[in-house]
Amino acid sequence: MSVTPVTLGEGRTPLLRAPRLSARLGVEVWLKLEGLNPTGSFKDRGMALAVTRAVEQGAPGVVCASTGNTAASAAAYAARAGIAAAIVVPAGAVAGAKLAQVRAVGARVVEVEGSFTDAYEASLALAEREGYAVVNSVNEDRIEGQRTAALEIVEELGGLPDALLLPYGGGGNTKAYARGFLEAAGRLPRLHPAEAERRADTFASAIRIVEPVHRAEVEDAVARSGGAVVSLSEERLERAWRALGAEEGVFCEPASAAGVAALERGVARAGERVVCVITGHGLKDADAVRRVAA
Ligand code: F0G
Repeated sequence: MSVTPVTLGEGRTPLLRAPRLSARLGVEVWLKLEGLNPTGSFKDRGMALAVTRAVEQGAPGVVCASTGNTAASAAAYAARAGIAAAIVVPAGAVAGAKLAQVRAVGARVVEVEGSFTDAYEASLALAEREGYAVVNSVNEDRIEGQRTAALEIVEELGGLPDALLLPYGGGGNTKAYARGFLEAAGRLPRLHPAEAERRADTFASAIRIVEPVHRAEVEDAVARSGGAVVSLSEERLERAWRALGAEEGVFCEPASAAGVAALERGVARAGERVVCVITGHGLKDADAVRRVAA
């Protein structure tokens, strides 16, 4: 059976030079602006494919557990496809704008007392009961769709960057970039997934995940690439997030600055060409600005 692809115009995001960051750090820094996807995060790339597949398989709806962005994306693509969406979130831990995005397109929100992992288990039970497709990043279509960002980078730079730096929550995106780079260039740039030291309660709520579901594959790809996982204090995350706004005019949500924070830790050598993936838009978590200003 063939179905019409479900799309909202995802992908083909800008790859922007960051001249002030580059001058300050002595590296050639490029920013992949994934917050400019239709629902404001990189999740849309894989969600287009995952929801298309759910429709193809005749699923009456989709379900996911989320810290907010997967939720906003799943809800929008399900609405676009005309199927239901149920979103399971850890109660009180999701930025308000992300829940607003979910509700605005008519999806059902289920709040679970507990962590992201508890929400994930609840979402699997719900999927079983309702016959919904699970669109978390354990869904291969999500990874396959997200890999396209790496293809775009290689195309635009005319080759691999020396290093790729990106936030590390569950690890699905790191896995997707590794796949895309191998496909486009046959080898990997140094991979530097950047996680919060305080995974359980970081102010960067998008990456508040204690148990990364793709940890083994992330560690394997990182080792093969000659890179390293970088752990960041709250202070470093916050400083990089503010610097990106003040120095480059790029307003992202706190988690999305993790790659830049890793760069500030000195993981790149002088003159190298590096790409930081800016995963989500600043308007996703405007409250973070208020909290920091206070
Ligand atoms: N950046 C943002 C803005 C995110 O929302 C996420 C994950 C990540 C980075 C980390 O990506 O999990 O592939 O390593 N957000 C998920 C969600 C957990 O539910 O929206 P990862």
